[in-house]
Amino acid sequence: MKKQLDNVPDTSLNRVDGAAKVTGAATYSAEYKVPGLVHAVLVTSTIAKGSITAIESQEAEAAPGVLAVISHLNAITVPGWPERKQSAGRAPVGTAFRVFYDPLVYFDGQPVAMVIAGTHEQAMHAASLVRVTYKRESHQTHFEKNIHKAGVPLNVQRSKSSPFQDYERGTAATQGNTDVKIEAEYTIPTQHHQPLEPHAIIAVWEAGDKLTVYDKNQGVKSVQGQLAQAFKLPRENVQVVSKYIGGAFGSGIRVWPHTMAAVMAASQLKRPVKLVLGREQMFTSVGYRPYTVQKISMGATKDGRLTGIVHEGTGQTSMYEEHLERTVLASRALYACPHVTTRYRLLSLDVNTPTWMRGPGDATGVFALESAVDELAFALKMDPLEFRLKNYAESDPERNLPWSAKSLRECYELGAEKFRWQNRMLEPRSVTQNGWLMGYGMASSLYGFHRHPSKARAVMQADGSVIVQSATMDIGPGTGTAMTRIAAKVLGVNAKKVRFELGHSSLPDAPGQNGSSTIPSVGSAVHVACEALKNKLIALAREMPRGSRPTSQEWSGVVRNGEVFGSADDKEGVSYADILKYHHLNELEVTEESKAGAEGNQYSMYSFGCHFVEVLVSPLTGEVRVTRVVTCADVGAIINYKTARSQSIGGVVGGIGMALMEHSAMDHRFGRYVTTDFANYHIPVHADIPPIEVYYIDKPDEHVNPIGSKGLGEIAIVGVAAAVANAVFNATGKRIRELPITPDKLV
Ligand code: MOS
Repeated sequence: MKKQLDNVPDTSLNRVDGAAKVTGAATYSAEYKVPGLVHAVLVTSTIAKGSITAIESQEAEAAPGVLAVISHLNAITVPGWPERKQSAGRAPVGTAFRVFYDPLVYFDGQPVAMVIAGTHEQAMHAASLVRVTYKRESHQTHFEKNIHKAGVPLNVQRSKSSPFQDYERGTAATQGNTDVKIEAEYTIPTQHHQPLEPHAIIAVWEAGDKLTVYDKNQGVKSVQGQLAQAFKLPRENVQVVSKYIGGAFGSGIRVWPHTMAAVMAASQLKRPVKLVLGREQMFTSVGYRPYTVQKISMGATKDGRLTGIVHEGTGQTSMYEEHLERTVLASRALYACPHVTTRYRLLSLDVNTPTWMRGPGDATGVFALESAVDELAFALKMDPLEFRLKNYAESDPERNLPWSAKSLRECYELGAEKFRWQNRMLEPRSVTQNGWLMGYGMASSLYGFHRHPSKARAVMQADGSVIVQSATMDIGPGTGTAMTRIAAKVLGVNAKKVRFELGHSSLPDAPGQNGSSTIPSVGSAVHVACEALKNKLIALAREMPRGSRPTSQEWSGVVRNGEVFGSADDKEGVSYADILKYHHLNELEVTEESKAGAEGNQYSMYSFGCHFVEVLVSPLTGEVRVTRVVTCADVGAIINYKTARSQSIGGVVGGIGMALMEHSAMDHRFGRYVTTDFANYHIPVHADIPPIEVYYIDKPDEHVNPIGSKGLGEIAIVGVAAAVANAVFNATGKRIRELPITPDKLV
């Protein structure tokens, strides 16, 4: 394969768990063998709002193999759920949904009962026999029809320091020198994560006060904490195992109702219970990217200087809970612009609560912002990259702080060169190829830096191999591979000598895998733990007799190839195994914590990037083919190029899906999604994806953490949809502001 990164030698590790994954040796949540396991299947509501009036379960209970039918009529009381103050009515906004708690129905697809049986098939069959009757109330699920009801989120009303407060820099009124102005509205529909592995849990009560769950999630420590709280158990009595995950993209950040349902059933039946969501249930159980409408007005002087941006966004949430996202925030930071106003509103509908989905808020907001920038550049008759460079923010215009590091300009330049952006025609419909219209588009990407306190344990074994542990996760990016790389480098050992363990709540405390925070946070912890272990080993080596050679005074201690040397040009070293042997140690262990200091007050920290896209559009059918993508990122130091590159490719693929295909359509007569499988909910397949060229600036950010590395997962997708939409405009002259860009919108 052609190596895409030409500015550093590619010494990447292959995925440390690659062989286990492709041979089936990797155990996913639903695959654990637990004696006495029984199977649960959810029965879900067929109305979007109202209440359950009766549940007839006799027939289901009499069906072969059935052990129980659980609903609000007979479910156990979850001890950590206090009685609601308004027990007779709907829960006040801000209360998470409680499964099998009362007869109220908040959304179509809500779990209303659960059948537990000896086999999955028996439970499936019996679930079809449960008859639920409802008192139906009229529901509101249509975003556009209800948008006038949107308001300032209660969470924002209650918190003056909320980042989602209305924001104003300069005043919109002083856009006096604006020569050219655009104003437009952008819509993204509801989109679902839909990882190939559905969410699944096996809940095992080892004793009345001891719980183990094998659960698909993005944070074993957070699930441990939430389950301990719900069931009023000491944290250590709850263990959460989540070692392999077949994609999540944000759907696993929370503890969802199905997780609670399985744990409740296992408690009630005193049997281990397995629950695997069906694909259809994945559309109503684990969140989604919320339907969002945004308005942007933007002005510039005729020589291309931004004068003002007004960005308003309204997102969707459920009736019982608020989900807030960074939708409008990028407009405050991405460009040097004197006047910026942002407003964020929420609309509650009779739907389940959305959640974070890759690049949450920013993927949505930057679609609008970077489409608007392209629109304004076109109105100015200016190259959109030149326009962006003209308004490049040399420091953070929102916080008035220097960037910790920013190489977005270098990204633009490298990307433009590799893509051959200079060949782009300003006028749409200028280029055709075999009767198809060809267009070029680009967009920027940014995502805030997140670093959470993290611990790691590093253990040198008697044979010179190393075990490194942290309760971090791998939802796909290759966490174990990157951490192995960090450990091997610090300790000067071959990566084959390192084993990294993750995905178990008994391991040292680490944040969940979200917000592109794993490498910055856990990578730092692994680095400092291995540094500490190395220093201990160096100190121990120094105490050892060193053959005929006297211990030199300027002994500094250098590690390479699994040995400690007195100094860099020492020929004779002592191996880690011999150090432990000499000191009669079976192993040597250190646990270290790494966390941010005050540097976040001195610097504004972001990852940056940009994407360049070529499309062909059929003038006859409106079909869009993405034919070329160049993506370039500035995320500080790259830890492992090969896995990073895969993550960048995955982000682009997700962005192409967002731009051209993904759309969770609802039949509003019933408040029900009609796209409930991959036949109807379209995501890109290999044939939809062209070769994707990935480039990194790979320059350590010295202010963010000891490894100089920032997050990559989110910026990989942020901006991609805008780049595609901008390319479609360049090809066709049609500006599509409502995703996905399906053929009907282009003919
Ligand atoms: Mo990500 S949406 O923080 O998994």
